[in-house]
Amino acid sequence: MQTLLVNKTDFADVAVVNYDEGDLADGQIRVDIGPFALTANNVTYMVTGDQIGYWSVFNPTAYDLTQDKTQGRMPVWGYGIVRESRFPGIEAGAKMYGFFPIAKSMDMQPGRLSAHGFTDIAEHRSGLHGLYSSYSFTDADPSYGAHVDLQPVLRPLFTTSFLIDDFLDDESFFGAEQVLLLSASSKTALGTAYCLKARGALPVVGLTSEGNKDFVEGTEFYDRVFTYDTITDMNPDIKTVVVDMSGNMGVIRTIEDHFEENLTYICRVGISHWQEAAKAPPKRTATPTAFFFAPDRAKQRIGDWGQAGFAENLGTRWMPFLESAKDWLTVEKAEGMEAVLENYKALLNGQSGPDKGYLFTL
Ligand SMILES: NC(=O)c1ccc[n+]([C@@H]2O[C@H](COP(=O)([O-])OP(=O)(O)OC[C@H]3O[C@@H](n4cnc5c(N)ncnc54)[C@H](OP(=O)(O)O)[C@@H]3O)[C@@H](O)[C@H]2O)c1
Repeated sequence: MQTLLVNKTDFADVAVVNYDEGDLADGQIRVDIGPFALTANNVTYMVTGDQIGYWSVFNPTAYDLTQDKTQGRMPVWGYGIVRESRFPGIEAGAKMYGFFPIAKSMDMQPGRLSAHGFTDIAEHRSGLHGLYSSYSFTDADPSYGAHVDLQPVLRPLFTTSFLIDDFLDDESFFGAEQVLLLSASSKTALGTAYCLKARGALPVVGLTSEGNKDFVEGTEFYDRVFTYDTITDMNPDIKTVVVDMSGNMGVIRTIEDHFEENLTYICRVGISHWQEAAKAPPKRTATPTAFFFAPDRAKQRIGDWGQAGFAENLGTRWMPFLESAKDWLTVEKAEGMEAVLENYKALLNGQSGPDKGYLFTL
């Protein structure tokens, strides 16, 4: 059995480790992992691994895969299937969706079992937000039935998109007259633009790199699209709220200089330009800003709307967005660690095309 370890301070330095599964402990299930997706979001999990706790969740030392504390495992979203069960109530063959390491298999310690899913209550997972240890039984949720291959690629990102649109509306768009999305070709930005357009409250403007401009325009989710080197072509007199998926402080600073007091708020969502994010120059203006953490917002809305209300509101946008994806996203599937490593390197270097989604099984 194989798993992928990553040097926590040098993501290009990886090691493929073979492990023996041993006997399954009483009260646990053994799950075969895959297919799982890889997007820029997974790289961000590593960049924020210490800060938010993503390194702890599949910590290889907790699973006896290595004693080297400099190594970690990058989490991914995908499917799993129970191969063996020593937990009453979950049978071999049960299919699930959730958070996994890049590995052939994983032993989990289920708790809080319901007809819809369960929580992995392994001690070392308790430090991270509960959403990341929750697994859904896919056969129990009809929303997993459609576009099975697109789901692992888009599902975790679109929930964030939906919540950002809801948050901006809740905040009256911070008094802005337009919404500007950075790293507009990212799936999280595309989903956000889709929701904002469906709401129809304000024009949606996308900012992307030159090479991705045609793709972004082709989705028709944005009213206008600019590139990072044409920021100053935008009308600076329009009050603007920024949703930043890029984390590129050079870009942010140019936007601040350009819009000055017409920049009403910066919603910091991601760091897809993770190499640039590390070089962060000091901020010059005092634009109100905060980090948007989707699990916290989801918790708030589940409290406001109830679990069923949340699922219904999300589903209203999710299903048509998922349907739209066949026009702009192609999913490529591959097997084996070599394919994972090839894609992983492209992902680190920003060379995975925005019109592609990738699914892997080891
Ligand atoms: N805060 C939250 O709760 C939350 C939740 C979900 C996602 N996010 C974040 O949203 C961001 C987008 O994630 P995603 O999975 O949607 O991304 P994705 O679809 O994989 O994004 C691909 C795009 O990101 C840019 N990019 C990716 N790697 C790059 C690199 N190495 N150098 C320069 N540009 C690069 C390019 O866009 P451009 O050319 O358009 O810049 C590229 O087309 C991530 O940082 C993710 O963590 C945050």
